[in-house]
Amino acid sequence: MAVTTQQLLQWKQQGRSIVALTAWDYAIAQILDASGVDLILVGDSMAAVLGYETTLPITLEEMLLHAKAVRRGVKHALIVVDLPFLTYQESLQQAMHSAGRVLKETGAQAVKLEGGYPAMVETVMRLVQAGIPVMGHVGLTPQSVHQLGLRQQGKTEVAGERILQEAIALEQAGVFAIVLEHIPANLATQITQKLTIPTIGIGAGNYCDGQVLVTSDVLGLTEKQPPFAKVYTNLRETITKAVQSYATEVRERKFP
Ligand code: KIV
Ligand code: NA
Repeated sequence: MAVTTQQLLQWKQQGRSIVALTAWDYAIAQILDASGVDLILVGDSMAAVLGYETTLPITLEEMLLHAKAVRRGVKHALIVVDLPFLTYQESLQQAMHSAGRVLKETGAQAVKLEGGYPAMVETVMRLVQAGIPVMGHVGLTPQSVHQLGLRQQGKTEVAGERILQEAIALEQAGVFAIVLEHIPANLATQITQKLTIPTIGIGAGNYCDGQVLVTSDVLGLTEKQPPFAKVYTNLRETITKAVQSYATEVRERKFP
């Protein structure tokens, strides 16, 4: 049975941890889905596999192309697609247009956008009222990299309180879940206890209702990983060895 946004809420109530990973193409999505991942995020972190240094240059067209490929590979998981930088911040109309294109053109079930400041909360409320499921994202928001850097957020009491209030406002606006990125574990715990909707942590301790990681980090495809990522296998090494073996065999006329 396909995972729904309501299912995620039930899992929080049951204390069953939500497993989320990112995907950017058909093959990866198929493998994650068949492995039992609950939520697949077409994250703008795919900037890393497209060769961009930050998530800022990614376009809506690129997200749509990759989200469609992911959709074709998924039977079970809930698919959430990131709205890229400046495809939703400009106006409600722009956000509605971008989120609408994601749902209508890709078949994904939800969008994710960054920030919990008042104007964004208002946008989220209107998207949700229009029938578009929205996932929130607070703490470290990589689309603000030129303001925040990639540092842990919410370290002081004041900063932590602000993130908590943003999370509460987003829940009230109707998000079905919220990503907490790179904040202290005790703050993430406090937010998780305060909210009815599930929290999905990345670098936010192990008390969140679920965890998400960037799959290219998990697989060791990226050249550098953030401190909170866990690298479960080294595909760069595996692929290098395979390619070198192939090259040697071709040059020595051993293959075919
Ligand atoms: O783009 C992404 O992969 C994300 C996750 C880190 C939550 O937004
Ligand atoms: Na993202």
